[in-house]
Amino acid sequence: MSNTRVLTGITTTGTPHIGNYLGAIKPAIEATLDPNSNSFFFLADYHALIKCHDPERVAQSTREIAATWLALGLDTDKATFYRQTDIPEIPELTWILTCMCSKGLMNRAHAYKASVDANRDAGSDDLDDGITMGLFSYPILMAADILMFNAHKIPVGKDQIQHIEMARDIAGKFNHTYEELFTLPEAQVDEETQLIPGLDGRKMSKSYDNTIPLFAPTDQLRKLINQIKTDLREPGEAKDADSSTIFQLYNLFATKDESAAMRLAFENGIAWGEAKRELFEFLDAKLSAPRARYYELMNNLDAVEAELNKGAEKARSEAAPLLDKVRIAAGIRPLTYVAPKAEKQNTKQKELTEEELARIEEGRRRAILRGAQPLLDQVANAADPSAEAKVIVAAKTEEIETLKKKAKQKAENELDALKVEWADLLS
Ligand code: TRP
Repeated sequence: MSNTRVLTGITTTGTPHIGNYLGAIKPAIEATLDPNSNSFFFLADYHALIKCHDPERVAQSTREIAATWLALGLDTDKATFYRQTDIPEIPELTWILTCMCSKGLMNRAHAYKASVDANRDAGSDDLDDGITMGLFSYPILMAADILMFNAHKIPVGKDQIQHIEMARDIAGKFNHTYEELFTLPEAQVDEETQLIPGLDGRKMSKSYDNTIPLFAPTDQLRKLINQIKTDLREPGEAKDADSSTIFQLYNLFATKDESAAMRLAFENGIAWGEAKRELFEFLDAKLSAPRARYYELMNNLDAVEAELNKGAEKARSEAAPLLDKVRIAAGIRPLTYVAPKAEKQNTKQKELTEEELARIEEGRRRAILRGAQPLLDQVANAADPSAEAKVIVAAKTEEIETLKKKAKQKAENELDALKVEWADLLS
């Protein structure tokens, strides 16, 4: 297994659409084929509760999104695929991180600020009207999702970049306050997949109500494609492929040759109705196999549940040991816990350079000399410091022989330190 950990979550509030597929799921599944990456994909169902209080919708969306990933061929032996709420370590970490996160950081979150602005625009006298603590502190839950698995790369849409930066801030604060336990994550934004047009030509998005569900039944797919906005060009008139939603969607699923042929048809003035029929037949054919698997899985949810349970076990085997370390670092420990100190010191000394060892030795000598300050003063104040130093050293050398083991060692150390200190005087 490998080094780069890629992690992403999908909030379970809607039905997966073509934009989700091309923008997130397809590239994520492709990334699992890279032997240098280790993928973590999850259903963000705690996040769903922030924006959706319809339990049936959350539950149905969770089924649909889980079945979609599996239908599209996600190999759950290659990736860790789980449901956020199956990992109790995540909310536990969320609290610890909440205590590492300044309120001011959350005040600056885009989603919260947008809600405050909407209240202001509506003339509300309570700017926090309708805003839950879930919405307010959502970036902390997201930070826990990411930090819990020490993920490096987080593929997300542009709107999520700020949240990844907040996760970095929070990780940095923990690492600095307690112990370096967290990797600082980075957002990975793919410009190309940001531009998937919906039925009205704007970005395909639930919030614009312009989506094409990925596994819409054939009839619905045909109907939706027929609703795509076009201009008034007549059959036979040349059409601009690049500004057409029909061409863009076709292009996103097509090979180079297929795209080139469609582009030519546009130049040659294909009728809009004909172009829509081509797109429908093309998509219907491409999606028919995963769609069949999807409906099979939706009729066999036990199998999907089993996959999620397997994923939860894998995910928890990563999360639990890290959470243990986090708790211990923060002082949440068994009453009898003793830090493994001795071992730590040994390993430290092995790693020290000569210069560092010399500095430690000098510190030790200084400490011994602090105990011998009266002797140092005596010599410094003597009329003949050199003679005085020699007398003291001779007397000490003689005295040492009369001492017992432990005291002898101590006196020898002191004498050695004095000899170094007075090296000039004694020579
Ligand atoms: N908030 C993300 C969204 O709305 C979903 C999400 C939750 C997520 N936790 C995450 C994405 C962790 C990446 C990493 O799109």
